[in-house]
Amino acid sequence: MPHSYQELVISFLENANHPKRNGILQGRNVMAGYARASALQCNAIHPFIANDPLYIESRALIQHRPLLTESRLINLFLILKYGLKGLEGDIIEFGAYRGGSAIFLANVARGLGLSTTVYALDTFEGMPTSDPTLNFHHATDFANVSFQELLEYKEKCGLTNLVLIKGRFEETARPLLEKSQNIVLAHIDCDLYEGTRYAIKTTLPHFHPGGGYLVFDDALQSTCLGALQAVEEMIQQHHLRAEQSFPHLVYRYPKVC
Ligand SMILES: C[S@@+](CC[C@H](N)C(=O)[O-])C[C@H]1O[C@@H](n2cnc3c(N)ncnc32)[C@H](O)[C@@H]1O
Repeated sequence: MPHSYQELVISFLENANHPKRNGILQGRNVMAGYARASALQCNAIHPFIANDPLYIESRALIQHRPLLTESRLINLFLILKYGLKGLEGDIIEFGAYRGGSAIFLANVARGLGLSTTVYALDTFEGMPTSDPTLNFHHATDFANVSFQELLEYKEKCGLTNLVLIKGRFEETARPLLEKSQNIVLAHIDCDLYEGTRYAIKTTLPHFHPGGGYLVFDDALQSTCLGALQAVEEMIQQHHLRAEQSFPHLVYRYPKVC
C-alpha cells in the first residue's frame, strides 16, 4: 500500500498501462495525465523525483544547458519511466539548441535499459527565417551554440544512443524517419509555426502503433503563438485530445482504445 501522496502517484503511473487497467480511451490516458500534471503543478512530486538516482545523474549532466523548466524535465522523466511501458522505439527531438533536453532524454533512456535512439535535430546555428507576421523569434535567435562543443560533450558522456543531426528539419527529418517506424516520443521545441507544423506532419506517419507521445514544449509559451497554431491545426485535422496541459502540451498518436 502506498504511504504518501508521491507513492500513490507513482503506484498509479506504474499501473496506468497495465493491460487489465488500460486507461487509454479515445487515444489518451486521462488519469495518467492528471496524475503527472497535478502532482507537478502542486510541486508534490519534485522532492520524490529529485531523489531518484537516474534523475539526479541525468540532471547533473545537463546543468544549465536546457531551456526547459524543472517540471518539464520531470514530466519527460515520468513519461519515459512509467508511460512507455511496452512501447519500444525511438525518440525524436525537433529543436535541440545546446542539447539540454536531448542529453537528458538519452541518459534517462539508457539508464532505464531502453534500446532507444534519441535523434536531436537543429540547425545548431540559430533559428531559420520564418513568417514575421506570425512568429516572435528572429533568424539569429539561439545562434549562441557550438555544434563541435556539443559533439565533444556527447562523446564525453558516452551517449552512443544520441544522434545529433545538423540542418533544417525540412532537409534532415524525412530521410531519417524513413528508417524508423516506431517513434515513441516526439519532443517538439522549435518555437515557430513552420518547424512545428513540419515536425507534426513528417513524424505522425512514423509513430509506434501502440500510441506514442507528442510533447510540445513551447506551444503554451507567450512567445510561441505560431507553434500553438500548428498544434491547433493538428487537433482539427486528427481530432486529437490532450493528455496533459501542464507543464507542457502532451498528446498520444495514433489513437488506440
Ligand atoms: C527553444 S530552442 C530548443 C531548446 C532545447 N530543446 C533545450 O533543451 O534547451 C529552439 C531551437 O529550434 C531550432 N529550430 C527552429 N526551427 C528549426 C528548423 N526549421 N530546423 C532546424 N532547427 C530549428 C533553433 O535553431 C533553436 O535552437
